[in-house]
Amino acid sequence: MAISLNKDNLVYPYFVVDGKNEKQVIRDFPGIFRLSIGSLIKDIEDAKRLGIGKVLLFGVPKHKDDSGMSAYDEKNIVVRAAREIKKEFPGLVVITDLCLCAYTAHGHCGILTEVRPRHSGPRSDLGQSIDRGRTLEALARIALAHAEAGADWVAPSAMAKKQVRVIRKALDKGGFKKTKILGYSAKFASNFYGPFRQAADSAPAFGDRSGYQLNFVSSGPALREIADDISEGADMVMVKPALGYLDIVNEARRKFDFPLAVYNVSGEYAFIKYGAKKKLWDEKKMVFEVLTSIKRAGADWIITYHAKDAAKWLS
Ligand code: PBG
Repeated sequence: MAISLNKDNLVYPYFVVDGKNEKQVIRDFPGIFRLSIGSLIKDIEDAKRLGIGKVLLFGVPKHKDDSGMSAYDEKNIVVRAAREIKKEFPGLVVITDLCLCAYTAHGHCGILTEVRPRHSGPRSDLGQSIDRGRTLEALARIALAHAEAGADWVAPSAMAKKQVRVIRKALDKGGFKKTKILGYSAKFASNFYGPFRQAADSAPAFGDRSGYQLNFVSSGPALREIADDISEGADMVMVKPALGYLDIVNEARRKFDFPLAVYNVSGEYAFIKYGAKKKLWDEKKMVFEVLTSIKRAGADWIITYHAKDAAKWLS
């Protein structure tokens, strides 16, 4: 059966910052900007006109500390952005990324038991030094803050064990039974996140994420994480990145009869953009080839920085 991409498959990510009329260039992320709320609303108007119906929000806060507290306060940038978007565009599907890495001074996705690892070096054992209890508590508070602001979906990406269960429980208890959860279930410790870390200013200050993100050498743990998220109450699961991982996407599609999102990440986008600039290929043709492949492998939603261009080309 021939597969064709359509606009309903597309989710467009946004980076939100404080300020007025901000449209900040990100050096190595061509075509993507950090936007303040006013600029964001204008951009979403364009995206909506092109037929985009779903957005994913990332906050890039000014304030960072060891426990990422500004992720759940009232003035949080994602909280304010989600509220404003739902006011302007009630029908737009708003998904919020739920993580601590942009809010912690050390740049890790959880709260650490100790701020410095015992061993430094390329592969530190930071997995052991994430304080799971405090991290889960913080994630639940962020989920509630996002739900209160009107987010339709929260998307926990911290890779903390049992995060989906804890967040589901907190949402139900808080009266947000309708808020859905998109689990970043199979998230690999990947080299493809470079431009994103520049955008979100979220690179780890020391160590790496191999303690809590998956190793690319096997697929079994990824499928187990997906099964866990489904049993913990996720409404949709995710594989991330996309292109090096389409085997996992396809295995997940065959194994689980469940909604599946795939994240075509920043490094994958940069490949296409920089190659097109060098005239190595035609950008539009390449984008269609890649996004169609991701859909063919089994994606229902494709989170992609190409979404606006693809929607334009599909019109
Ligand atoms: C943070 C997060 C990352 C991405 C999405 N959420 C980066 C990371 O794990 O360091 C990457 C997305 C992209 O590269 O486009 N938890």
